[in-house]
Amino acid sequence: MTKACEWFKRLVLNGRTMIVGSKMTLLRTLCIAGSILSLSVASAWAEDIEAGKARYAENCSNCHGPAGRGMASYPKISGRDVAYLVDRLETYRAGTKVGPNSGLMIAMATDLTDEEISNLAAYLNAVE
Ligand code: HEC
Repeated sequence: MTKACEWFKRLVLNGRTMIVGSKMTLLRTLCIAGSILSLSVASAWAEDIEAGKARYAENCSNCHGPAGRGMASYPKISGRDVAYLVDRLETYRAGTKVGPNSGLMIAMATDLTDEEISNLAAYLNAVE
């Protein structure tokens, strides 16, 4: 697929007209389909800050305050390393206590998916 795509581009760049008509159209279709495919695969795997923000607003902000800035005795979680946040959320999800009030977080994290954890971590890391 990629090879055909590069070949097609080179062909266009060189301005060669050896392949005409339906073959050319087929190649162009393949090329475009290939690009769309690789784009959607890439975005499916990328962390989604907007989705993390939406998930955070659902109930995390009730305790951690707006944008994870912390509230009363609830810790500030914004601006921390992605790896740290992911690790903490996975630890709570596994039911492991790390602090005196982990029980609250274990209840919050049990239903989180891997995707939600990575989106939440991306969002929290991005806000101050
Ligand atoms: C009911 C209140 C409450 C809610 C809702 C809540 N948290 Fe927490 N969170 C806490 C408490 C309390 C702690 C400290 C727990 C401990 O002692 O281990 C904590 C700790 C954390 C930590 C680790 C902080 C650190 O400094 O290590 C992260 C990350 C975190 N929460 C993220 C989230 C996310 C994401 C959500 C939403 C899915 C969420 N929390 C929802 C109360 C809450």
